[in-house]
Amino acid sequence: MAARILYLVRNVHILGKSGNHFIIYLLSDSLNNASQSSPRRQVKPNTQSNESERLVQVMTLRSWLSGPACPLPPGRWSQAESEGRMLPSELTLDNIRNNDFKDVVFGRRCARYLDPDHKIPREEIKQIIEETNCVTPTAVDTQPFAFLVVDTDEGKAKLDSIMRGSDKDRITACSFAVVPCADRLWYETYDEHVRLESEASPDYIAPMADGLLAGVFKWVDELTEGNGEYLDKSINYQVGMAGMSFQNVCRAHGYDTGVMDSWDPQLLEEKFGLDLDRYIPELVICVGKSVGSLQPERYRYPADEKIIWG
Ligand SMILES: Cc1cc2nc3c(=O)[nH]c(=O)nc-3n(C[C@H](O)[C@H](O)[C@H](O)COP(=O)(O)O)c2cc1C
Repeated sequence: MAARILYLVRNVHILGKSGNHFIIYLLSDSLNNASQSSPRRQVKPNTQSNESERLVQVMTLRSWLSGPACPLPPGRWSQAESEGRMLPSELTLDNIRNNDFKDVVFGRRCARYLDPDHKIPREEIKQIIEETNCVTPTAVDTQPFAFLVVDTDEGKAKLDSIMRGSDKDRITACSFAVVPCADRLWYETYDEHVRLESEASPDYIAPMADGLLAGVFKWVDELTEGNGEYLDKSINYQVGMAGMSFQNVCRAHGYDTGVMDSWDPQLLEEKFGLDLDRYIPELVICVGKSVGSLQPERYRYPADEKIIWG
């Protein structure tokens, strides 16, 4: 059977609304339909909660969004809230060292040689990831990605061991490497996400909360039809955008980046315990202080070769 949220999406139907509160029915026959619908991709279940707990969470969320404020249940939600960095405008941006857009964006070139002695503190790495997340647009703000960050000598040696050919030995010289991964289970925490968003931008979310959840559940259902290829296409595209944002943010911090995809990503499970049923690793991006020259400019097609006028 597919992930628990699919069970939920397929089985929860909003049949009516009483005042500010929805009436939710669980339709058991569609559970049977869902379990018979192969060849949907198998995803590993989250063992932290079961279907009924999840249903209660969603019901609570719905009534909380549409009714008077109710006490917040414990969990990741309250932890995320305490970290407090909820809106892009709240970023400190205190490690942005290059504020020259032309230099950051047009000056980016692939960095082949990085200073092996240069370390970037974890606090700054977290800032880079957070800023990347803030400047990357995603469908209904779902942020369907995660970043495997490798910054220790041991981790870099492990990652380097699965690189091939001319991409070998580049990771050991970088300050840190990142593997952006598409997250097939982003929807498992989407209800919590909406709750956080409703705190952060109530004027945005309140008028559309009812429609948003119902619309997103319907969309997830469409995306996960068949073997999951629509879901994968959507999240792959979005993590690609995050990868580009990440490189520009690194440049703004004064670092350079090198992208590599000559490797064996299947070994990430063995080497780092990455759940490959859930995450799709896209490529490796090395980050650090460039030594020597960046890769020279490469030929790019003129617009006429690339535009299909509509
Ligand atoms: C998806 C992708 C995969 C890449 N894989 C490699 C790689 O395996 N090894 C490598 O040396 N460069 C790799 N590159 C870097 C490209 O060769 C480089 O970006 C390209 O030559 C353009 O140069 P520029 O980045 O300096 O603009 C990759 C780039 C992308 C976007």
